[in-house]
Amino acid sequence: SRAIKIAPSILSADFANFGAECEAIEAQGADWVHVDVMDGHFVPNLTFGPATCAAIRKHIKGVMDVHLMIAPVDPYIDAFAQAGADVLTAHLEAGPHIHRTLQAIRAHGIKAGLAINPGTGIESVTELLDMVDLICVMTVNPGFGGQKFITSQVSKVQRLRQMIGDRPIHIEIDGGITPETAPLVAAAGADVLVAGSGVFKGGSVTNPAPYGENIRAI
Ligand code: DX5
Ligand code: ZN
Repeated sequence: SRAIKIAPSILSADFANFGAECEAIEAQGADWVHVDVMDGHFVPNLTFGPATCAAIRKHIKGVMDVHLMIAPVDPYIDAFAQAGADVLTAHLEAGPHIHRTLQAIRAHGIKAGLAINPGTGIESVTELLDMVDLICVMTVNPGFGGQKFITSQVSKVQRLRQMIGDRPIHIEIDGGITPETAPLVAAAGADVLVAGSGVFKGGSVTNPAPYGENIRAI
């Protein structure tokens, strides 16, 4: 398998066909399936909660990568872990107790992810390196698919990879990934690329081949 993993975001899938969409993107070569949970409070958009994640889980053979854009987050960690997340990611900006949040995720024996917004520096991540399996660098302000990649984040990814050193921590990039932006973040040290609009454009559950073409183009 290739070194860079592609994690299509079902935010750009047909919301009435999540099961079939997950099966289609895995059949077309997706490495992970990225699931965006939004609360209309931490981010200005709403998606779905743990019950939908549990339903989706049955249609994913590989890794279900759940990105929580919700605040507060602590009251919902158990529910999303029980819904079958393999990676559960919370935002540094979502509350005052991110260390506790990461502990709660790890207590379920699953991978703990830490997401940081474009406006957040990597300084606070220093204290959390022993608590995380994945750091998600947002390259758009979270809330919507199809936004423009924020190029200033590339040097942040580079500095973060240096800070991580030889620790086994994934760097995931989320937002605005295209065949043009993917090489920039891969060269900077990212190893998991989330892509929503870039993967789902031009395809559908009845015409899934474009998903595969889009994945291979990234
Ligand atoms: C944005 C979400 C992303 C989104 C990315 O808040 O976290 O996962 O789906 O969409 P694209 O790839 O279209 O920028
Ligand atoms: Zn996401």
